[in-house]
Amino acid sequence: MSKHTHQKSIRTVIVTGSTRGIGREMVKGFALRGWKVAGCARSRKDVKTLTEELGPGHFFEAIDVANDVAVASFARQVLDNLGVPNLLINNAALMNDPAPLWEISASEFDRLTAVNINGIANIIRHFAQAMIRQGSGVIVNLSSGWGRSTSADVTPYCTTKWAIEGLTSALAQELPEGMAAISLNPGVIDTDMLRQCWGDEAASYEKPFEWAKTAVPFLEKLTAQDNGRQLTAP
Ligand SMILES: NC(=O)c1ccc[n+]([C@@H]2O[C@H](COP(=O)([O-])OP(=O)(O)OC[C@H]3O[C@@H](n4cnc5c(N)ncnc54)[C@H](OP(=O)(O)O)[C@@H]3O)[C@@H](O)[C@H]2O)c1
Repeated sequence: MSKHTHQKSIRTVIVTGSTRGIGREMVKGFALRGWKVAGCARSRKDVKTLTEELGPGHFFEAIDVANDVAVASFARQVLDNLGVPNLLINNAALMNDPAPLWEISASEFDRLTAVNINGIANIIRHFAQAMIRQGSGVIVNLSSGWGRSTSADVTPYCTTKWAIEGLTSALAQELPEGMAAISLNPGVIDTDMLRQCWGDEAASYEKPFEWAKTAVPFLEKLTAQDNGRQLTAP
């Protein structure tokens, strides 16, 4: 598909971290509602499976959002193939293995900040200008309850999610009229990430598929009027 065949009426969404957890269910939900979807994750195998499942008209690539060069190439391909996104959802993130801060290695801490903070900045760096030229678009950055409160043993994760609240709020002041930057606390959902943190206790929480049934229509309705808001998924 070339950009010349791109129909304006069909909307495009990008969801990073699109192969597992709530990212995967957002991708499927948006596609079912007629959106063109682009996404990424690190696992080549999972990206291949998702590509086959979603079929033509969408675009997924195996990249690490912490790698700015890879993000630049991903953005070029998405913009060429699907057009400028109407909605950009920064969902990819990592959780630390629960432990007090002084027991967390420098490499684990650095990995979380590289993915959860720098990864979002990388994605915005390579998509925002096309969205600004288009004069519209909504950027949603996944935060967390732990981006607005704290708990023991998840200090690296809290650090990155509080940073995302700051990043999003400042970005909202930079974007031109017609655009929005929003932080989103998705709630608590039974995903691999929650299992890493809470083990089997995660089983009692909402499943990603159920979550997406209300979250996708909610995300679909966000507009420039929501710029700067700190939202929580319904
Ligand atoms: N689940 C919850 O209860 C909860 C609560 C609050 C906030 N959140 C937030 O919601 C978002 C999604 O969480 P989740 O629970 O669905 O997580 P998840 O189940 O762990 O899924 C994470 C997804 O992101 C991808 N990913 C991870 N690192 C990446 C990287 N460096 N580059 C590209 N893709 C990467 C993963 O695929 P690969 O591993 O193949 O890369 C996977 O597709 C996160 O921002 C999380 O902080 C979740």
